[in-house]
Amino acid sequence: MKSLMLLSVSLSLARASSLQERDCSHDNCLRAVIQSGSEFCSAYTATPTITSLPTWATACTSPSTTSQILSACSCLPTPTSTPRIPTIWLAGDSTEAPGGGHNGTEGWGQYLQYSFPPSVAFVNNSAYAGRSARSFTREGRFEAIAEKVKPGDWVVIEFGHNDGGSPYPAADDNGRADCPGAGNQTCPTVYANVSEIVLTYPTYLKDASEMYLSLGAKVILSSPTPDNPWETGNYSYTPDRFTYYSWLSVTELGGPSAGVYFVPHGQYAAQAMKNLGPEIVDANYPMDHTHTAPYLADVVAQSFVLGLKCGTSGLGGLVSNATARLEGSVLGTCILANGTLPI
Ligand SMILES: *[C@@H]1O[C@H](CO)[C@@H](O)[C@H](O)[C@H]1NC(C)=O
Ligand SMILES: *[C@@H]1O[C@H](CO)[C@@H](O)[C@H](O)[C@H]1NC(C)=O
Ligand SMILES: *[C@@H]1O[C@H](CO)[C@@H](O)[C@H](O)[C@H]1NC(C)=O
Ligand SMILES: *[C@@H]1O[C@H](CO)[C@@H](O)[C@H](O)[C@H]1NC(C)=O
Ligand SMILES: *[C@@H]1O[C@H](CO)[C@@H](O)[C@H](O)[C@H]1NC(C)=O
Ligand SMILES: *[C@@H]1O[C@H](CO)[C@@H](O)[C@H](O)[C@H]1NC(C)=O
Ligand SMILES: *[C@@H]1O[C@H](CO)[C@@H](O)[C@H](O)[C@H]1NC(C)=O
Repeated sequence: MKSLMLLSVSLSLARASSLQERDCSHDNCLRAVIQSGSEFCSAYTATPTITSLPTWATACTSPSTTSQILSACSCLPTPTSTPRIPTIWLAGDSTEAPGGGHNGTEGWGQYLQYSFPPSVAFVNNSAYAGRSARSFTREGRFEAIAEKVKPGDWVVIEFGHNDGGSPYPAADDNGRADCPGAGNQTCPTVYANVSEIVLTYPTYLKDASEMYLSLGAKVILSSPTPDNPWETGNYSYTPDRFTYYSWLSVTELGGPSAGVYFVPHGQYAAQAMKNLGPEIVDANYPMDHTHTAPYLADVVAQSFVLGLKCGTSGLGGLVSNATARLEGSVLGTCILANGTLPI
């Protein structure tokens, strides 16, 4: 890419043959084109016959007006396009959100930024306490992200802690419970005096994912964080059905080849908590068995990053930390996916 300064230097030095062919000699036509700027040239080059000619075009005649203008335009420096820094959008609940579940707890999404240099990716933590896939949808929170998503962005979707139960009986509907099931079941209801067709967890995830894919973003469906796996005194963690639903949704959307990835975040976070042991983990669930203190939220974020690095998404490639630096006595190692997990 040649700047004008470089251009005139090379012209005065030697008139390199490629420049000679394009005839970038500073005649009145080229001077006028340079003054009129690259916008005119973009328009004219695209459709020379329909772009109306400015008055200076009378300076361009050799061998014809059109060919001299096109030749002069080819001498303009191409504007440098700096690649856009992608945003990583986080959609989730209090375990991920700014301020966590309040009372001194914190969401893991607040720590994700530290694994991506600012020159490589921004993190927008749009997770919100108390939300499920259903209420995040109803309140337009997926939409609010979609309004800002740009091609090349990433959207991480992680729900489950508020999605259990059922909208029925209607008197007990908390506005968060998804329609039970893994398929296209629907649960018509009236919530807060408004009719609502409640959908299943996979349907909410797939609808949101398809919206982001259509906007040129890629999607990571991430399994929910564990409740304190040392709660009983002995370590115990079993992936819940929302873990399976996230994986299922990735599979049904077409997996990595469709731009959709699964991170078994719950498994990675549980592995780290197993390694940390009961004293540290108990002390970092200060309020209840769901919400983490800042230290553990950071570990949970790092567990997600290890899951990314162990997977195949391009987002893992943007992480500043080497996999070998992440694996170790706290986070553990890559979790080998069973044969069916499309990570
Ligand atoms: C959070 O703190 C407030 C104020 O101290 C208290 O009233 C509330 O019960 C606490 N919530 C939980 C879930 O601990
Ligand atoms: C993050 O995204 C939300 C939309 O989900 C938007 O309202 C908010 O302004 C964004 N925050 C920043 C810092 O860009
Ligand atoms: C719901 O799923 C079932 C089973 O896959 C399928 O037969 C049916 O056509 C689907 N219904 C709708 C409305 O998509
Ligand atoms: C629902 O409608 C009833 C009757 O009009 C009203 O008393 C109640 O406050 C409404 N509830 C909500 C959540 O808007
Ligand atoms: C932990 O496991 C051991 C060995 O299975 C058992 O004896 C003990 O009762 C368990 N403790 C708790 C608190 O469940
Ligand atoms: C692989 O994992 C998925 C999701 O957790 C599960 O449904 C499936 O049964 C597992 N397959 C094997 C062979 O373990
Ligand atoms: C990556 O390195 C940065 C800077 O040292 C650190 O803040 C961050 O926690 C690391 N990420 C992980 C996942 O270890």
